[in-house]
Amino acid sequence: MPHAPRKIIIDTDPGQDDAFAILLALASPEDVEVLGIVAVAGNVPLALTQKNTRMICELAGRPATRVFAGSDRPLKRKLVTAEHVHGKTGLDGPVLPDPVMPLQDQHGVDFIIETLRREPAHSVTLCPLGPLTNIAQAFMQAPDVVGRVQQIVLMGGAYFEVGNITPAAEFNIYVDPEAAEIVFKSGVPLVVMPLDVTHKVLTTRARVEAFRGLGSEVGRVAAEWADFFERFDMEKYGSDGGPLHDPTVVAYLIRPDLFKGRHINVEIETGSELTLGMTVADWWGVSGRAVNAFFVGDVDAQGFFDLLTERLARL
Ligand code: RIB
Ligand code: CA
Repeated sequence: MPHAPRKIIIDTDPGQDDAFAILLALASPEDVEVLGIVAVAGNVPLALTQKNTRMICELAGRPATRVFAGSDRPLKRKLVTAEHVHGKTGLDGPVLPDPVMPLQDQHGVDFIIETLRREPAHSVTLCPLGPLTNIAQAFMQAPDVVGRVQQIVLMGGAYFEVGNITPAAEFNIYVDPEAAEIVFKSGVPLVVMPLDVTHKVLTTRARVEAFRGLGSEVGRVAAEWADFFERFDMEKYGSDGGPLHDPTVVAYLIRPDLFKGRHINVEIETGSELTLGMTVADWWGVSGRAVNAFFVGDVDAQGFFDLLTERLARL
């Protein structure tokens, strides 16, 4: 039975792994309808994340995609970036042409609010791939839209894998913990892709060569992004490749059967400087706190890469 594509808004801080997520979404119109993509400051400053988002859309051959600039800094804190992982441009590896497609004039947060008010209630899924600043801003500016969100499927947090930017915290949550607290306490149905699952989708040589073997510009660029992006995690963890964090969000929308997790309580540390941004995930159900998230812990990694590669072949 054919199903209608899910309407989604991607919120992103490209980032090579964000780029894979955007390409997967744009290559899957039968599964997801991308209403718009909002850039946020994160891996690199906003001026670069909005430019990178447009470059990725043009690489996908989708220059009509509406791209917006959102928040250029966290709600309360100084911006922390991750050039050490993604390079100074945020998309280091291959050299891509500067974008020609326009950046929308409307602020990304206003786009999120307007879209949630216009579209039927519970028909739009938000897909944050970076710090949660834009989502929290929208919820603070327009509390009426919170109850209209169908679901939030986000990449962020960690439990068994602990932190990647501090010993306790994952980058997206750490950059704006106050925003994360607003989102995790919003009552919106959450699906969380933490490091626990993203560290299981590694860009092994065979998988990177499968990208290159597509014989397309997209395949070449994807392989070169992976070649650059994986060094940080391989040096730090000694892993057999780098974790493709963000495309797990879009893959979940297309093939949720590839993933396994638990409905648990997840809260955000915003007080302690030592554990700031930690996702306190009650995986063993000991706290008695209300369930607020489907926290994903496992994935069919090869099934994920087969899906990703098959869809990249379409571009
Ligand atoms: O910790 C990994 C996350 O932080 C990914 O979304 C990556 O792109 C960075 O934003
Ligand atoms: Ca990201």
